[in-house]
Amino acid sequence: MVIGLMGFGTIGAGVYELAKELEELSIKYVLDIRQVEIPELTHRAEDLFEDAEVDTVVEVMGGLHPAYEFVSAALKAGKNVVTANKYLVATYYDELLALAKANGVAFRCTAAVGGGIGWLTALERVRRIEPINAVEGIMNGTTNYILSNMTQNGLSFDTALSEAQALGYAEADPSADIDGLDVKHKLLLSANIAFDVSLNVNDIFTAGIRSITDGDIKNFKERGLVCKLLGVACKEEGKVAAFVQPNLFPADALTASVPTNFNLITYDTAYTGRMSFYGQGAGRYPTGANVVQDLLDIVGGKEEFYSKEGAPCAIANEIVSFQYYLRTTSAKKDAVKAETWGDAVLTQKMSVAEMAKLLEEIKQEDPRAFIAAVRS
Ligand SMILES: NC(=O)c1ccc[n+]([C@@H]2O[C@H](COP(=O)([O-])OP(=O)(O)OC[C@H]3O[C@@H](n4cnc5c(N)ncnc54)[C@H](OP(=O)(O)O)[C@@H]3O)[C@@H](O)[C@H]2O)c1
Repeated sequence: MVIGLMGFGTIGAGVYELAKELEELSIKYVLDIRQVEIPELTHRAEDLFEDAEVDTVVEVMGGLHPAYEFVSAALKAGKNVVTANKYLVATYYDELLALAKANGVAFRCTAAVGGGIGWLTALERVRRIEPINAVEGIMNGTTNYILSNMTQNGLSFDTALSEAQALGYAEADPSADIDGLDVKHKLLLSANIAFDVSLNVNDIFTAGIRSITDGDIKNFKERGLVCKLLGVACKEEGKVAAFVQPNLFPADALTASVPTNFNLITYDTAYTGRMSFYGQGAGRYPTGANVVQDLLDIVGGKEEFYSKEGAPCAIANEIVSFQYYLRTTSAKKDAVKAETWGDAVLTQKMSVAEMAKLLEEIKQEDPRAFIAAVRS
């Protein structure tokens, strides 16, 4: 396989190093803006598309543009594409799958969800013989690091975030992590592949952890609960629900014990039941290794995406209900209150769709409001 690698940053350098160890893989070009001291470096993306010898392009630059234009050009030029860019694939899902199909090439993005975990390939495998009922999990190491540190070490949100930034887990602008957008993109890929659908990414209800306080954590601890940010999607009688929100688990639950920046992702299927995958959701070598696994799968003959393109499917968040922890200064909380929890309330059971609507109204009055679904 002759490869054009786009992006020589954290993941690109890992892919470069790991691919050099394997005789089946040969990197001919490395595209980067920066001047890096490697013989394969080019600053012209066209070099990768115009060279007939290159059969596969790896995109690990990140962002939407020009990644979308470059990946589209590569597919149109008949190159297989492997990417770790969940933002790109979640945003242009239908277009990219259709382009890969029209040009008869492989399109793989295993490292885009779960970093080093072979999650999408596990979904691809299990769905061959059993219907998948649900996918869910801790899919973002940065927010898990922040929540773990607040719970275990009593740090404030701001201190825990600064620590995550100092360790290189969180970006200078942490919005994509703490507002749940990164999980939303990963959930979209997981749900589309699990259920053979094409969801609209903008319709996934997404509540992050930006406004969680040490007072909230104290409230949870007093009740033996631990807060975790999860993406969840499930299918019931042909309807699909998909949402990203903080959840409260009993302290002895498996999900509650996931430490620092680790991921834990689970599917629930008709015959196997629940199966969970735990490991490093990011990092140069875990993520780079998963990119290289995709390359080897293509060398081994894999030509198709993980699932079919999937028909558009409206999100039906009214099919799933929880009691919610709701901390807000808005009087709207009184109408849904079942119990008082310190300065917050535990709501009556309500659907995710109802909570999405209520939270949107409450945020107009109280942008710092915080919710978490109570899980058993
Ligand atoms: N880091 C992780 O642990 C991880 C895990 C899973 C998935 N991913 C995904 O993998 C992708 C890459 O992440 P990363 O952490 O490796 O990012 P990164 O360290 O910022 O690397 C990206 C590289 O691409 C270069 N680049 C950006 N735009 C370019 C352009 N237009 N032309 C040529 N080169 C360009 C960057 O140069 P400059 O630095 O000069 O901009 C940088 O060297 C992202 O989509 C990310 O979501 C990352």
